[in-house]
Parts: sequence; structure tokens; C-alpha cells
Amino acid sequence: MCNGGGRGGLATPRVRRGPQSVSATPAGTVPYAMPTVLITGATDGLGLQVARDLAGEGWTVLLHGRSRERGEAALAQVPGARLYLADLASLDEVRRLADDVLAHEDRLDVLCNNAGLGSGSRDATRRESADGLELLFAVNYLAHFLLTMRLLDLLRRSAPARIVNVASAGQQALDFDDPQLERGWSGARAYCQSKLAQIMFTVSLAERVSDDDRARCYHVTSPAPSRWLARRARVNRKSERRLR
Ligand SMILES: NC(=O)c1ccc[n+]([C@@H]2O[C@H](COP(=O)([O-])OP(=O)(O)OC[C@H]3O[C@@H](n4cnc5c(N)ncnc54)[C@H](OP(=O)(O)O)[C@@H]3O)[C@@H](O)[C@H]2O)c1
Repeated sequence: MCNGGGRGGLATPRVRRGPQSVSATPAGTVPYAMPTVLITGATDGLGLQVARDLAGEGWTVLLHGRSRERGEAALAQVPGARLYLADLASLDEVRRLADDVLAHEDRLDVLCNNAGLGSGSRDATRRESADGLELLFAVNYLAHFLLTMRLLDLLRRSAPARIVNVASAGQQALDFDDPQLERGWSGARAYCQSKLAQIMFTVSLAERVSDDDRARCYHVTSPAPSRWLARRARVNRKSERRLR
């Protein structure tokens, strides 16, 4: 955790607190615990906006980012948040992220698996993660699968907990003879198969965890605002200026 500390490393918490953060209540009323949410990819786009909104409502927000610089910039925009660093393109860093959260947090009400890589530009080429896996599959799906499994006990202890997987309307069946897309890679195919894998994970996890109502698992699609939309807006504003 950070507002200091190395990539994936530990540092002094920004806000020290008791077993649960408690909302401000008028004198004489019973305070109620506000939920704690961990949002992956909270340095931009949807993740950052959700972090801001939930912090505004009094939630305890745990921001995840991969770069200290961008993480600290996000931290400055989310009052009271704590920052965790890990590159999701490395399964070792994902394990360290989970360990870091388990070491510093005594509850987790919502895990929002939001970080994601898009399909990239038309001339994008296949890349691999630190573990030699197709990069979009590794970051969008496998990293979140591993993180969720490692945090599941904490989520169950914080019942009723929620796991929100941010998927997409774009989906494509997996070729189980070539799940790493070593043949015929395209950004769209890699993105869409990673998102379908995420949804299938949601379905199978929901079956496993919802029986006792200690955790619920959802997937959501078509989020906004996103960096992509922001870029488009900037491009549109530039084109508008050019037209004037
Ligand atoms: N935008 C859309 O129209 C749209 C539509 C459907 C679904 N979605 C899904 O919605 C989610 C959020 O999308 P968005 O548009 O808000 O994305 P975004 O603005 O591009 O933000 C993506 C976030 O993921 C982080 N990230 C990327 N690779 C990472 C890695 N290897 N390790 C750690 N963090 C990493 C980024 O960190 P950095 O800041 O360091 O880059 C950033 O915080 C994604 O899962 C996406 O697939 C988006």
C-alpha cells in the first residue's frame, strides 16, 4: 500500500483507522460502517470516476494503479483513499497486491475488477506478459481471476460482499486449441476473448459464492466515462476548433 513504498511494496497508510471506517453521524445516533471498495485500474477512466464518486459518498476507497506517478495523481483526487501498486501484467505482482491488501485491510465489501487493456490501434501486434502469456488475456482476465481468488476469504468475512467484473459488450468465443492467440492474433479478438473469459469467470464464481449469500458476483458492461471517450472528446474538440 502506498502513499510511499515501491512498486507493489508497502508503505505507511495514508489514513490509519480502526476495524472499520465509520461515517460521520449526528450526535446521539448510532454510526454505521461505510463499505470498503478496492478498484483496480483506478488511475484513469471509469475506475478513477467510480473512486471519486464512492469517496464522495463516504466509502473507504482502495485505489489500485501500476505506476506510482499516476497512482499518486489519482490519490490526490480521491479524498481519504489508500493506494496499492501492482502491474497486472505480472502474476507475481498480482500475488503481492493481494498479500498487501490482506496485510493492511481488515475488510473488503466490494472488489471492482476494472483495470483493462483495450484492443489497441490497427497496427498493434501481439505482446506477452511477464509470464509469457498473451497480454490482454493476462491483464484483463487472468490477473483478476487470481486477485479475486486470493481475496475471496476476506470478501466472505466482510459479508455481504460484492465482486464486480467490468467486462464489455464485445465478446468472442475462446479457441481452446490456441487460447494464447499464437495464430491469427488481432487486438479486437484478444480483447473480446479476454472479456468473454471474464464473464464466464463471473458466472462460475457466482455459482460458487452466492449459495450462502456471503458474496455476490456481477459483470457490468459499457462503462463511461473512459479514457477512450475522453480522448475522443479531445479529438472532437480539436476538430471543432479546426472547423471554426
Ligand atoms: N471504454 C469503453 O468504452 C469500455 C467499454 C466496455 C468495457 N470497458 C472496460 O471498462 C474497464 C475500464 O475501461 P476504461 O475505458 O476506463 O479504461 P482506461 O481509461 O484505459 O483505464 C484503464 C485502467 O487500467 C489500468 N491498467 C491497464 N493495464 C494495466 C496493468 N498492466 N496493470 C495495472 N493496471 C493497468 C490503467 O492504468 P494506467 O493509468 O497506468 O494506464 C488504467 O488505470 C476496462 O476493463 C474496459 O475493458 C470499457
